[in-house]
Amino acid sequence: MTPIKECLINKSTKHNPIWLMRQAGRYLPEFREIRKKNPNFIELCLNETLSEVITLQPVERFDFDAAIIFSDILMIPFGLGQKVDFKKNFGPQLGEIKIDEKLKLNDDSFSKKLKPIYKLLRNLKSSPKLDNKDLIGFVGAPWTLLVYMINKISPKNGLSKNFFKDEALIKNILNILDRFIKLHVKNQVESGATIIQIFDSWAGLINRDFEKFLYEPTISLVEYTKNLGASVICFPRNIKNYKIYCDKIKPDAINIDYNVNIENILNDLTIPIQGGMNPEILLTDKETLKKETKRYLDIFKDHPYIFNLGHGILPNTDPSMVDYLVKMVKDY
Ligand code: CP3
Repeated sequence: MTPIKECLINKSTKHNPIWLMRQAGRYLPEFREIRKKNPNFIELCLNETLSEVITLQPVERFDFDAAIIFSDILMIPFGLGQKVDFKKNFGPQLGEIKIDEKLKLNDDSFSKKLKPIYKLLRNLKSSPKLDNKDLIGFVGAPWTLLVYMINKISPKNGLSKNFFKDEALIKNILNILDRFIKLHVKNQVESGATIIQIFDSWAGLINRDFEKFLYEPTISLVEYTKNLGASVICFPRNIKNYKIYCDKIKPDAINIDYNVNIENILNDLTIPIQGGMNPEILLTDKETLKKETKRYLDIFKDHPYIFNLGHGILPNTDPSMVDYLVKMVKDY
């Protein structure tokens, strides 16, 4: 069994496996090299040859315990026919929601549009570089995708009051998302993903109708994914109560964000925990990094714990700090 599955399924506390969110990305010179020649991010995600190279870059460099496929949560709105652009120094920018006429919400046309992603998974699955490692697929949670589809850009300054105005539209999109997020999960699992991580980056913005926006759609997705035989890790960033979330949603593991008080969380959660450390710690110095890493490892010594961060690794991280971190976690 892989080190991560030992932790997720057997609840082993013997080792702390490690991988990092955004482990393939701009902090790696070898990624920037490829990115420079491929200015269109969506096209890069749909180039299974280059996305395989990119996915494997951090695994080869640091010997992480998992590869997370190089793709993006916004490939679902893209697959549904909404325009998605990534603007330099701005972030994602989505177009008008008009579900693609040609697509007419047909499962086959959606899967065909995202086919290179599934090919990527199949290629990775047969790579000897991933022996005894997990292959992590992922999706955006229904709420976070709803936010991007309606808000069109990252809601960094919160949601406008208008966001909730068109109830019929919201209901329609949530129904569509339920169906196509599940299809995207199914395609990834059938192509070789052993774990699915559900990114709910904007879960912390929900301040009403928690059942409708957070619990109901996520419970359904988690159950569906478990029934396919994959493990599920949820990352509901910035929520207030992880205990209620885990009790209701029952993921196999929970990725905590860096605002979580880790001294207290052990009293609340019995399931395996992943992540937590602030990615900014990797921007400090080795002494600070060592101290903070040890703090996490000590606190989670007797709890199944997968080392990761409380959000994605930052682009200005020095790869030598990541190397130091991985060695420390492995030697602990
Ligand atoms: O973790 C991984 O390495 C797997 C690949 C992955 C990416 N995005 C690649 C990526 C994953 C799991 C994501 C998830 C994702 N995408 C989330 C959820 C996690 C989070 O960050 O909250 C969200 C909200 C998105 C949407 C998105 N994609 C944003 C906000 C951005 C940043 C835009 C910017 O200009 O910084 C992206 C772009 C993106 N996705 C990059 C990568 C490696 C950077 C692309 C680049 O090279 O410019």
